[in-house]
Amino acid sequence: MSDIILTDKICKDYSLGTHTVHALVDVTLRVSKSEFLCIVGPSGSGKTTLLNMIGCLDVPTSGKVTMFGGYDTSQLDDRQTTLLRRDRIGFIFQSFNLLPVLNVLENVGLPLELQRVPRPEIEARVAALVEEVGLIEFARHRPDELSGGQRQRVAVARALITNPQLVLADEPTANLDHDTGMAVLELMLEMNRAHGTTFIFSTHDPKVMGIAKRIVTVEDGRIKEDRNVA
Ligand SMILES: Nc1ncnc2c1ncn2[C@@H]1O[C@H](COP(=O)(O)OP(=O)(O)O)[C@@H](O)[C@H]1O
Ligand SMILES: [Mg+2]
Repeated sequence: MSDIILTDKICKDYSLGTHTVHALVDVTLRVSKSEFLCIVGPSGSGKTTLLNMIGCLDVPTSGKVTMFGGYDTSQLDDRQTTLLRRDRIGFIFQSFNLLPVLNVLENVGLPLELQRVPRPEIEARVAALVEEVGLIEFARHRPDELSGGQRQRVAVARALITNPQLVLADEPTANLDHDTGMAVLELMLEMNRAHGTTFIFSTHDPKVMGIAKRIVTVEDGRIKEDRNVA
């Protein structure tokens, strides 16, 4: 079976003046289709750095990241990287990153606009997905008229609207209270089951990692533990 992601002994160094931060050290991670995986670790452990490598926002200092069974991320040019990100990966952020002047339908439809999908198809796909994430009655609301949990549901829909193979969520519950955060993760799990989309989310909160099927613990840039949850 082909892997969605394979990181092969990746290291990432940042130089800060005279000294070097080893943000990732020999990280080898293999992720298959339809996994629902949590990366957990304290602040500064390397979660964002690892997600940035997987999301093709950055390349490792050494080692190799292979995506979707064949793309070595360090070999892609800017245009190839942009297309890979646009068409195959959905992103969910801690701070939602919705456009304040657009309503729910418009925010969710934005990635399809970028793909130049015809307008009637955008409208149909967006309406179906907004219904699926439980926000149809808020369709014409702008982000500032929604709660934090509702905003993150919009972000989940926006990440999924292009039917990506992979969704990356960097601390998606960090700005939500526990129950609201869990509800957003439940929605992500539902979408994982319904669409077979691979999800990777990070958290520093051990209380929310229990929902994952696989938990990868990072500490000081290294994988400390990688376990499947029954
Ligand atoms: N752009 C950067 N420049 C220098 N150091 C960085 C940069 N980004 C992250 N780091 C350092 O790398 C380490 C891992 O950071 P990060 O991946 O953001 O951890 P986490 O997301 O788990 O909080 C930390 O020591 C952090 O200070
Ligand atoms: Mg982080």
